[in-house]
Amino acid sequence: MTAPTVETAPKYHLTSYGCQMNKLDSELVESKLRQRGYVAAACEADADVVLINTCSVRQHAEDRVWSKLGKLRVRKRSEPGLVVGVLGCMAQEHKRYLVARMPHVDLVVGPSAFGDIDQTVEIARSKNLQIAAEREPARTRHEVRGAGVLSVDQGMSGDTIVRDVRVRPHRSQAFVSVMRGCNMPCTYCIVPTTRGDEVSRPIADLVEETQRLCADGVTEITLLGQTVNAYGRDLTGQNATLARLLRALHEVPSLRRLAFITSHPNFLSPDLIDAMAELPKVARYLHLPAQSGSNAVLKAMRRGYTIERYEARIEQLRNKAPDIELHSDFIVGYPGESEADFAATVAFVQRIGFAQSYVFKYSPRPGTLAAELHDDVAEPEKERRNAVLLEVQEELTGAKNRALVGKVVEVLVEGDSKVDGRFSGRTAHHRLVHFATTDRELIGQYVPVRVTQALAHSCVGEMLRHDAAQEGAHDPAEAAT
Ligand code: SAH
Ligand code: SF4
Ligand code: F3S
Repeated sequence: MTAPTVETAPKYHLTSYGCQMNKLDSELVESKLRQRGYVAAACEADADVVLINTCSVRQHAEDRVWSKLGKLRVRKRSEPGLVVGVLGCMAQEHKRYLVARMPHVDLVVGPSAFGDIDQTVEIARSKNLQIAAEREPARTRHEVRGAGVLSVDQGMSGDTIVRDVRVRPHRSQAFVSVMRGCNMPCTYCIVPTTRGDEVSRPIADLVEETQRLCADGVTEITLLGQTVNAYGRDLTGQNATLARLLRALHEVPSLRRLAFITSHPNFLSPDLIDAMAELPKVARYLHLPAQSGSNAVLKAMRRGYTIERYEARIEQLRNKAPDIELHSDFIVGYPGESEADFAATVAFVQRIGFAQSYVFKYSPRPGTLAAELHDDVAEPEKERRNAVLLEVQEELTGAKNRALVGKVVEVLVEGDSKVDGRFSGRTAHHRLVHFATTDRELIGQYVPVRVTQALAHSCVGEMLRHDAAQEGAHDPAEAAT
């Protein structure tokens, strides 16, 4: 296969609408297209192939895509050769609808069919070029037709695709998918349907991938899995656990930070706690979504733990690794959630003192068990609970940020901040820190920054000279509480 020259090379544009795993999939898809000679378009309007990597987790995420597809249908009337692709979780969830009712969508590719995405795109492109050659631009929306290629359930995720360094958001950071799918029975969640059963990758493969990424300039790896701390339970006889994986990856010499998301409270095992306590490269935060602070709601959600159990695990963790900060997700307005249930969640958040929480309004997902229930918390009440919980969390986050003022933290510089003349980066606790500099050479480096100001969601500081930080001012772990 010879790659086309840049002038004639087909141009793609890909947008991610989902979680980190969805973003990683987009990187892998892009890498595959580039290997086939495709180039990134400067903007979507300039692309021959427009791909949307989608998410089904809440209605809002889907609505954005449906509205985007409406706009692309209009564009396709005058550009019949344009290839429009729906990838990811909505492709899996709505494959029939997309194929039957959206003739302007040329390819529908689920998350388990990314392994040969370049080929799928090529097929759609050549079919469309033929369609375009045969007829004039469409006069009515009914005339808008495309290739209609469906690729789902192939058992071939993009995990083995060799990553193109140019598609990583930051040269020094990379995601690594350690497991796909989810086997948990959470009643509200569509992910097990869109992503299928848990499949873990062997430790040796993950070590190899990490070594390759580190040889390519990566120093911070974030391991991804929907229940990342359940890693390995499907790899029978291999004694593969997240704790063992962390220990193996920790040996890669040029790796400096090792994070993992998202953990499930049921699998926060003593050996994982030990690994977090003992391994200095492991990031100092744990994303451990609780979803609710009410046992009645947790039971209705089939989360498989009680608040008491969650708190007991956290206590074990804090005893051994007191500098680890906790992050969580919460759903407000789950069917039957009473005012008292919600009050229990607020009290729980305050009691644990999470450093960060994502709060979502419950969104019924067709096909899930919870969708059978009456969605009885009215939208304005969901809004209210959402706002209240966010405010409680903001106060906690703000207090943690304020406690850092005057301290020196180590920041991995990611790039330009939204404010001109400032860069931003993250600490080992995943805290966002902005500081004044224009030195682009610093991107990807670890620099000491003295925090001077606390904001609601981030900190502002001033960069110190490396040697100044070593003269004793260095605070190795930002205070956990
Ligand atoms: N695997 C992770 C996260 C999965 S989705 C976990 O188990 O924690 C990310 C978050 O979306 C979830 O933690 C949950 O808080 C939220 N979520 C999932 N389904 C939802 C729904 N139907 N409505 C609202 N929020 C939802
Ligand atoms: Fe969804 Fe639950 Fe699986 Fe998380 S653990 S992805 S919330 S089913
Ligand atoms: Fe969304 Fe799929 Fe991720 S539903 S949250 S993109 S796994």
